[in-house]
Amino acid sequence: MITIRPARADDAEAMPDIEQSAGLAFRAIPDLAWLADGDNVSAERHHELIAKGACWVAADEQDQPIGFLSAGVEGGALHIWELDVRLDRQGSGIGRALIERAIEDAKRRGLSTVTLTTFRDVAWNAPFYRKFGFRILEGAEVDGRLSGLLSGEAEHGMPLDRRCAMRLDLG
Ligand SMILES: CC(C)(COP(=O)(O)OP(=O)(O)OC[C@H]1O[C@@H](n2cnc3c(N)ncnc32)[C@H](O)[C@@H]1OP(=O)(O)O)[C@@H](O)C(=O)NCCC(=O)NCCS
Repeated sequence: MITIRPARADDAEAMPDIEQSAGLAFRAIPDLAWLADGDNVSAERHHELIAKGACWVAADEQDQPIGFLSAGVEGGALHIWELDVRLDRQGSGIGRALIERAIEDAKRRGLSTVTLTTFRDVAWNAPFYRKFGFRILEGAEVDGRLSGLLSGEAEHGMPLDRRCAMRLDLG
């Protein structure tokens, strides 16, 4: 039985290991395999994000986090910074449950959009988010905040042509 609950400060230490495990999925894509060995978001940064109150964990029967979604309110949107499910628990609906929780929270806060940046062509990235109604923004639809994030990712070695910004309009 998996429970989705708000992240607590004492979950932060577990998050880098979950991100590390989740990222092993990229080993299946030869030219992105290097991402599996990339840096993870630090526990300190998770502490900061958790304190802002828009992070959730998927916890197992022992209340141990096995997945998480960290987000924050940015420019009037709920922006998803990270979504990770431990490799051995992927494909069982946990990512879906986390994203649905974040969308519900954005609505409750009265926000009009949920945003994120991701890979266009990785099955568990843009096509995954599309299932929840997110769409890829093109050209002028990418505002200054999101294009700044994409540029920052490119500076960290991400292939810009394969990255995209996505938005879900909550209406
Ligand atoms: C993205 C991620 C969090 C999804 O979590 P998950 O628990 O595996 O996803 P779910 O089991 O809830 O799947 C939800 C839907 O996405 C689809 N999906 C998930 N992983 C998929 C894959 N590898 N290939 C194709 N479809 C996939 C599922 O089939 C399901 O669709 P359905 O409900 O229509 O059947 C997980 O794959 C992960 O941690 N990946 C590595 C880190 C990452 O890329 N994070 C996103 C960064 S933007």
